[in-house]
Amino acid sequence: MGRFDGKVALISGVARGQGRSHALRLASEGAAIIGFDGLCTYDTVPYKQATQDDLDETVKQVENAGGRILSGRADVRKRDEIDSIVAKGIAEFGGIDIVVANAGIGINSRPFWEVSQQEWDDVIDVCLMGVWHTVSAAAPAMIAAGKGGSIVVTASAAAIKAAPQLSPYIAAKTGVIGMMRSMANDLAPHKIRINCIAPTAVPTDFVLNDRLYQIFCPDKENPTVEDAAAILRGHHPLGEPWIQPSDASAAVAFLASDEARYISGILLPIDLGLSFAW
Ligand SMILES: NC(=O)c1ccc[n+]([C@@H]2O[C@H](COP(=O)([O-])OP(=O)(O)OC[C@H]3O[C@@H](n4cnc5c(N)ncnc54)[C@H](O)[C@@H]3O)[C@@H](O)[C@H]2O)c1
Repeated sequence: MGRFDGKVALISGVARGQGRSHALRLASEGAAIIGFDGLCTYDTVPYKQATQDDLDETVKQVENAGGRILSGRADVRKRDEIDSIVAKGIAEFGGIDIVVANAGIGINSRPFWEVSQQEWDDVIDVCLMGVWHTVSAAAPAMIAAGKGGSIVVTASAAAIKAAPQLSPYIAAKTGVIGMMRSMANDLAPHKIRINCIAPTAVPTDFVLNDRLYQIFCPDKENPTVEDAAAILRGHHPLGEPWIQPSDASAAVAFLASDEARYISGILLPIDLGLSFAW
């Protein structure tokens, strides 16, 4: 018996990183997955984005592990694309019980007065409006089914600590926390819960790139992953540079499960003690 036997989970940004890990974790406990990814490119994002090969790899890994997945390309900035994959997923699996609004991007770090309009628009559109789109595309079917459900939104520990030089990203991630709290009130009469997770650094493509090494080591000319890890370790009372995608997935699985049946409207940090560090 899996905790999610007979359940269906919609996951955004599923092609790689934490999204892939969430798909594997929820599928391993019995959920059928409706997984989508934008496979977008951005002029403002200084690391490579996921490709169709990445999305195919997620499908392969879920199926090789005995799971079921319907995948497709959909950009969280485009509500009609999400509506289309949601409709296909419901036709295939019969409904949606769990939503994981995970897709997100990071931009270059700079003081807020140097942020370009395009950088602001891209990160707010993907990380804030994209969450609204994803949750809104799934909520009506969940409400109509009358079975309750659980929604998990990926915020960031960077929003709790208000990391410097990342104001558009912090605005988006703080925004989803407030939006989640309001949504929790809208959804409660329907026994649908919604919560945020706030991961600290996770070694995905989002972090394992020169942009991030430069953010953490501004005084080094060509900082390496080891240089960045040393700085990050120093930020975290628990003494590790980062958590793993599977740690974020464990939190997602808990919040999605009936073990969290009375938890809604919270922000759950998975942050090696960062939030309350001296
Ligand atoms: N990696 C970290 O250190 C970290 C820490 C805290 C929070 N986060 C957040 O975790 C989430 C997952 O990030 P990750 O670490 O797995 O990075 P990642 O870059 O590996 O994964 C992000 C995924 O989102 C997809 N995506 C990007 N734009 C999209 C769009 N418009 N529509 C649909 N999909 C889109 C990408 O193609 C990619 O597959 C993001 O919301 C990110 O902001 C990351």
